Amino acid sequence: SLPVPNVQELVKKEPLQIPDRYVRDQDDRPQMNDDMSCLSSEIPIIDLSLLSKGDKEELSKLDLACKEWGFFQVVNHGMAKELLQNMKDATVEFFELPLEEKNKYAMPPDDIQGYGHAYVVSEEQTLDWSDALILVVYPSQYRKLKFWPSTPTGYKDIIEAYSKEVKDIGVELLRSFSTIMGMDKDALLGLHEELVQALSVNYYPECSRPDQVLGISPHSDTSTITILMQEHDTHGLQIKHINGGWMLVKPVPGALVVNVGDVIEILSNGKYKSIEHRAVTNESKARISYASFLVPRDDVEIGPLEHLIDSQTPQKLYKKVVYGEYLRSSMKRPLEGKAHMQMA
Ligand code: SIN
Ligand code: FE2
Repeated sequence: SLPVPNVQELVKKEPLQIPDRYVRDQDDRPQMNDDMSCLSSEIPIIDLSLLSKGDKEELSKLDLACKEWGFFQVVNHGMAKELLQNMKDATVEFFELPLEEKNKYAMPPDDIQGYGHAYVVSEEQTLDWSDALILVVYPSQYRKLKFWPSTPTGYKDIIEAYSKEVKDIGVELLRSFSTIMGMDKDALLGLHEELVQALSVNYYPECSRPDQVLGISPHSDTSTITILMQEHDTHGLQIKHINGGWMLVKPVPGALVVNVGDVIEILSNGKYKSIEHRAVTNESKARISYASFLVPRDDVEIGPLEHLIDSQTPQKLYKKVVYGEYLRSSMKRPLEGKAHMQMA
């Protein structure tokens, strides 16, 4: 990524200034009072404890959620409330550190891990109103420990414990995905060779003009699935509903937000959609979100599963891609809009 200002610092110095590089074109600005939030309670809520038992009704809820929304919230996921709270508390402490302390973990221009900004590829692109800490956590031999913060004390262990729980939840979800995609429950895991997991902790500083900027540009995730924790008292995540409008994902306390990524869209031959989403900022309060991306190993080939090229979608819709190449080519473009999947 190209070097860009630290947004948290920018706000600290000039709370009322919005530099031009962050101001969106009129059409891309969020309509603050037209978020269709009345619809947000309709985002399906899925009970993981039922899914794990193979409950048929819950599995068909999952199937419908992936077809009609691409997003759902997971409850009864088994992660302890204290762990979620510890992760939030330690993260707040980290972001409250002086910039020079955080910059000990600064993302180098040629890396995608560390504290900084991914997807900045040109001087012209409109910038997002956020800073992030990005770490690859699994497999553990992929970790670059120099980017794991030593302050606050214990943060590394908390990140590790949190990520382990997310991984277990992800494995359980991928088993259910295998089932609803008509396969043995370990098929998707097997296809990944090795499940790779990355964490992006996103910090969206408060913004005096939330109507002019975006915390994160619209995009679809290059992941297989993404598991997101958001705070229950601030919101920002909006999804592009299949009917067209942007819709707020209202936090359900204790729940995790899960979305279908590009890999599932390709594997399912478009039966399940990787939905475009974005984050808006808040005028008076910073927001933090925690996104865990579960992805296949770089060398894995991803294409529509033969058995899903069926009477509903008789044609193969997507070209086969090597995952690592797909990921790297997406990182060479600004994060902007729906993924550029290669249509067959
Ligand atoms: C993301 O899409 O990576 C972040 C969304 C959010 O902050 O809720
Ligand atoms: Fe995302």
